[in-house]
Amino acid sequence: MKKVFLFCLCLVPLLFLTCNAQVANDPIKYIYTFTGFSAFGFLLASLCITPFRKVYNLLIYRRMLGLFALFYACLHFINFFILDAQFDLAFVLKETVDKPFIYLGMIAFLILVFMGSTSTRKLFAKYNKWHKLVYIALILVVIHENMAQKVMGALEYFFIVFAVVLLSLRIKIIRELLFY
Ligand code: HEM
Repeated sequence: MKKVFLFCLCLVPLLFLTCNAQVANDPIKYIYTFTGFSAFGFLLASLCITPFRKVYNLLIYRRMLGLFALFYACLHFINFFILDAQFDLAFVLKETVDKPFIYLGMIAFLILVFMGSTSTRKLFAKYNKWHKLVYIALILVVIHENMAQKVMGALEYFFIVFAVVLLSLRIKIIRELLFY
């Protein structure tokens, strides 16, 4: 029952997006912002669950939050590929190679795709170790979001601090990831 409630809650940004995107001044920019921050928000929420599991155990919701991060990241990518690039594969490749902030986003996206596609019980048992890559995705998304801004604002500093706190809470795992 609680899972159904959370599922509906996770769909609220999509509902909001569908209602407002067409009337926005710049719908493509609006979709980038909305899907980007939704994906980022769900990613942060899913990453908060493990370090705080002893205070409040919400582990059963972690997978759903992670999958919603992937879902909104897919919409973000679709916005890039279909609405912005208009299916122009050459443009997509050029942007990805030329602009560091795009390829950092792409790498983060691929990590999320890998995690989502190996999140079933059976595959998770097999690829569990590789799921630590999510912390690399977190760092990449923080840089990607920062680079997407013309000037760094309070939100950018907040994301950096948030990510540093999360990473320091998982320092043992990061060490394993770097020196494995
Ligand atoms: C699939 C690869 C990705 C591509 C091609 C991509 C592309 C973009 C672009 C072009 C922008 C700038 C939009 C603008 O201001 O005009 C942007 C911003 C952003 N992206 Fe991505 N991105 C990708 C992956 C991701 C992922 C995986 C996340 C989060 C999990 C993310 C989160 C964000 C955020 C938060 C912003 C800032 C939005 C704003 O300030 O308006 N992106 N992205």
